Amino acid sequence: MPSLLVLNGPNLNLLGTRQPEVYGTVTLADIEKKCAEHAARRGAELSCLQSNHEGVLIDAIHAAKGVHDGIVLNAGAYTHTSIALMDAIYSTELPVVELHLSNVHAREAFRHTSYIARAAIGVICGFGAAGYPLAIDALLAHLEKT
Ligand code: DQA
Repeated sequence: MPSLLVLNGPNLNLLGTRQPEVYGTVTLADIEKKCAEHAARRGAELSCLQSNHEGVLIDAIHAAKGVHDGIVLNAGAYTHTSIALMDAIYSTELPVVELHLSNVHAREAFRHTSYIARAAIGVICGFGAAGYPLAIDALLAHLEKT
């Protein structure tokens, strides 16, 4: 049974109340519950973690090696700044699907750069909370192929 990690970065703990016009009204707890239900339906194990701290996210990526088969990562604003997170993904060689609730390409120019995308197998953005099950399916399809 494949094991997946859904990893959420800074400020995503505030989903539901944070800029609802951009990120919607669904909470992170709701998203994690939906992810767990979706993974169970798809015959996968799933763990979820959120942190506002870059080092904790890096540690979680390191710790995923040998435990999980792939990661769905919404690195929040660290997407656009963190070479260290990119290096962590390269270091573990785990498949990572980069995810964003908002369509980052339709927003400010600084959100058009992603260090994560260089190391990811693919990117899903702009579908709100519905992107998470899509990312799980994309990861599972990738794992079935490899
Ligand atoms: C985000 C997009 C990022 O640019 C932003 O910093 C976030 C959330 C998204 O899910 O749309 O924190 O990753």
